[in-house]
Amino acid sequence: MSKIHAVITAVGGCIPEYVLTNDEISTYVDTSDEWILQRIGIRERRILKPEEGVGITCLAEKAIENLRSKKDFDPLEIEAIVFATSTPDYILPNSASLIAYRTGMTRAFGFDLSAACSGYIFALEVAQSFIVSGKYKKVMVIAGDVLSTVTDTKDRNTCPIFSDGCGVALLEATEEEEGIVDSILHMDGDSLEHLHMYGGGSVHPASHESVDRHLHFIHQDGKVVFKRAVTAMVNVCEEIMQRNNLSKDDVRWVVPHQANLRIIEAVARRLEIPIDKVMVNIDKYGNSSAATIPLCLWDWEKRMRKGDKVILTAFGAGYTWGAVYLKWGYDA
Ligand code: UT7
Repeated sequence: MSKIHAVITAVGGCIPEYVLTNDEISTYVDTSDEWILQRIGIRERRILKPEEGVGITCLAEKAIENLRSKKDFDPLEIEAIVFATSTPDYILPNSASLIAYRTGMTRAFGFDLSAACSGYIFALEVAQSFIVSGKYKKVMVIAGDVLSTVTDTKDRNTCPIFSDGCGVALLEATEEEEGIVDSILHMDGDSLEHLHMYGGGSVHPASHESVDRHLHFIHQDGKVVFKRAVTAMVNVCEEIMQRNNLSKDDVRWVVPHQANLRIIEAVARRLEIPIDKVMVNIDKYGNSSAATIPLCLWDWEKRMRKGDKVILTAFGAGYTWGAVYLKWGYDA
């Protein structure tokens, strides 16, 4: 019997309508369009405007609708949903259940997965394991965040960076030599001091004090995280390329987490991969955490070809990081 592989057969995405420009941010913190463009590479980002009852699952539902407009499938055929997010609608119930109910994927089981900006590649790993086990044939991978809900608009270290969005991928079983080939994933628990949101968990449950102390916002020591991100992504990409005998010329696309254009360029330079093979959309979407990689695939879908060798790589709070090597499965 041939080996089962897990392949992405369709992607979808959703970004909120509201465009938050650098100039608008400059009206409430001491920054400028020039600084943000030069130091981060963001021109504008999308933000979900606060509205009663509206959260990440609304973006996820629209992203699934977008996927279905390109590749129709019976929602009842979906057997599992893995939803990577750090900003679920609620602590309880999980957001995967809400999405399943509202999109008719009611035969699926599922759960939310927390791995910050590495959420999409961690979710892909879990979903592909379900498929290669032979037990499941269709798994929906969703990755999205509404970071605007946990960003302090008075903190210029973070508010120009973070944004909102959601990307999805349908992962299916195939016996063809395509889809996810290899992955290397890590976490080390070392980000607590430099990249965290302390409030809302069991150590600092929500209280007047936790709100007053700004514990419900992400705090980041950018310089420290920057260095760690570059080293980690370069090392893990080199390792996955070496163990799969991939030269830099074999790789058609590198899809890095979109945290900072300078991080992306440093990774590309050290891997000696030309920047035109690297997907970059941070300029228009900002850093939407788990959503950045699937939103790149969504943006680039028409340019990708069956058989393209693709490396996804991410780094985020935890720290969590890793790389996935896959062979793209279709021409859009
Ligand atoms: O997605 C999860 C992983 N996250 C990341 O990978 C993000 C990694 N870090 C970064 O992207 C960058 O470190 C930042 C964008 C967060 C900051 O850029 P930086 O070049 O590392 O700036 P810095 O923190 O070293 O600050 C340099 C200067 C400082 O002023 P002085 O001390 O040199 O006078 C800051 O106060 O820039 C100042 N600064 C700003 N100036 C204008 C910091 N933020 C701003 C701002 N506007 N928004």
